[in-house]
Amino acid sequence: MKPTQIISAITFSALAASVSAKTEFHANYEDGTLSSGHPTTGPFRIWIPGIEPGLAVAKDACYMVKGGAHNTKWAVANKVTLDDPAYIGGNFPRSEFGFGGPRGTSYHSGDRGAYSFSMQFPDLVPSVKGDRPAPMEDVVWQFKHHDGGHDIHLALVGVNLVLGWGGNVYKQVIIDDVMPYVNKWMDFHFEVLWKNDTTGWFTLDMKLPGERRFGHKIKKKGIQTFVTASPDGTLWGDHGMIQYGVYRHSANSSAGDTKTLIIWHDEVTAINFSQPPDQMPPV
Ligand SMILES: *[C@@H]1O[C@H](CO)[C@@H](O)[C@H](O)[C@H]1NC(C)=O
Ligand SMILES: *[C@@H]1O[C@H](CO)[C@@H](O)[C@H](O)[C@H]1NC(C)=O
Ligand SMILES: *[C@@H]1O[C@H](CO)[C@@H](O)[C@H](O)[C@H]1NC(C)=O
Repeated sequence: MKPTQIISAITFSALAASVSAKTEFHANYEDGTLSSGHPTTGPFRIWIPGIEPGLAVAKDACYMVKGGAHNTKWAVANKVTLDDPAYIGGNFPRSEFGFGGPRGTSYHSGDRGAYSFSMQFPDLVPSVKGDRPAPMEDVVWQFKHHDGGHDIHLALVGVNLVLGWGGNVYKQVIIDDVMPYVNKWMDFHFEVLWKNDTTGWFTLDMKLPGERRFGHKIKKKGIQTFVTASPDGTLWGDHGMIQYGVYRHSANSSAGDTKTLIIWHDEVTAINFSQPPDQMPPV
């Protein structure tokens, strides 16, 4: 084992020992099912395109992929083709897994969360701007507020990977050009203190193809991570949840946005810890 792995394992167990309660969610898809063994009916179900009413109905909106992240057997794909009603979910071109029920996947103000996942952009044909200032964003991972927008999210904008927070008010390009990473797995890790006032914080780190360790930490503190209203004052709900796949809310194929977008995810972990609210994450 490399020294860095030992250090992160120790840090993690020290953290785990200090918490009084935690709820965890895992989806590694190694059983070859779209729900990764979780229920698809009842209150603790995963909402899966093709199964959950109101989501995209296309047979290939969501499917298993052979060859997962970290040399595992399986991953999942979400696909959206524009201008085809079979890829509309919740009134937008969208194929995303929803997680209202499973323990660990949702959060309230005051909760502390840790979230890891791997993601791949297979054979990406990037959107182009055409006559517009920029291509439209395609959301590929979000912390989605119930009855609201996203608290924090990652989106493809052409060849950029963009981080958004504060209810889509703040944006930062975190990968300038994803093209060298197409058809390769990337690892992401978020730590978040969810707060509805300005005492929240989050960190995001990445391990990109060819790298041996995480080393791109982005840290935001003294912010509202748990957004309570849109800029126009519309109030949001009382909790949020993870959501991943493809969400193309404003995409326009005639203007230059790529017609078909497929995103793969794997090795998803969401943990909700109970921790003193002012504790910063392990460095
Ligand atoms: C903020 O969250 C706390 C729980 O952490 C809650 O008691 C309070 O009512 C919330 N405030 C707003 C404005 O939603
Ligand atoms: C899509 O783009 C085309 C070409 O730029 C434009 O004419 C059309 O109005 C756009 N549609 C929407 C809904 O913005
Ligand atoms: C998160 O953890 C806290 C503390 O254990 C708990 O009160 C809360 O209900 C949990 N939230 C979810 C959505 O599991």
